Parts: sequence; C-alpha cells; structure tokens
Amino acid sequence: MAKKTSSAGPASINIGISDKDRAAIAAGLSKLLADTYTLYLTTHNFHWNVSGPMFNSLHAMFMAQYTELWNAVDPIAERIRSLGHVAPGSYAQFAKLSSLKDAPATPPKALEMVRILVEGHEAVARTARSLFPLVDKASDEPSADLLTQRLTIHEQTAWMLRSLLEE
Ligand SMILES: [Fe+2]
Repeated sequence: MAKKTSSAGPASINIGISDKDRAAIAAGLSKLLADTYTLYLTTHNFHWNVSGPMFNSLHAMFMAQYTELWNAVDPIAERIRSLGHVAPGSYAQFAKLSSLKDAPATPPKALEMVRILVEGHEAVARTARSLFPLVDKASDEPSADLLTQRLTIHEQTAWMLRSLLEE
C-alpha cells in the first residue's frame, strides 16, 4: 500500500506556555466566550422587545451594549486559536459552557431587563476575574490584557445599568 505523502499533523506550538497551561487557559477563555455570547444575545433580544416609557433610551442603550459585546467575542475566540485550541461556536456548546441563563421567553418589564443585564455583566466579570491566577502563573500577558479590557467594560456597564435601578 502506498504511503501517504504527508502524515504531519498541525505544527507544534512552542510559545513558552506549557501544553497543560495553554489547554487550561483556552478552556477558561471558552467559558468567557460563551458568557459573552449569551449576554450579547440577551441584550439584543431586549433591544428588540423593550417597551414602556423608557423605550427610546433603553432601545438605544441596549444597541450600544450589544454592539460592544458582539465586537468582543472575536478577540476572545482568536486568543483561544492563538493558544492552539478550537474556539467553541454553537448554541449547544455555549449552553454547556455559559454561566448565564438564556433570556426569558416572555419579555420582562423594562426595569427587570435592566436588572437581568446587571446580573449578566457581573457574572461575566466573575468569569473573567477567575482566570487571572492561571494566566498570571503562565505569564500569558495577551490573555491577561484581554481579560483586563473585558473586566473594565463589564464593571462599567454593570454600574451604568445599576444606576437606572436607583430611586
Ligand atoms: Fe435595531
């Protein structure tokens, strides 16, 4: 039987992070990707379905927020690829990986939407923060930088949304 001309697999990776650490960081970033995607979809859902006297401002605010979240999923997925792993990208995988629940099937009232989004941003912030010990140990500065950027946004957005709930 003729030998295959090439049996080489993917090129090995040697960026100074052990295989074990690359796998663990990619797994953590996959959770962050799933959380971010889920929060993106919920925010877009609320942009479509918000109603009441605050319609104009919330419809516009949710649009700015889902656009930011949509733009955020790409760098997270591409960091996973740079670490040599496959980025999850299906609703089934995201449902397994995400720490956030899907948006309710029946649209909640406007302020309940705001409350759900506050909780969502706080949950994504917790997921991002939980990865720091791992990336710090591996001197994975690009992942640490990405996590820092995401934390800044999620904590700021949670504050802005939380402010809407004050009397
Ligand atoms: Fe729209």
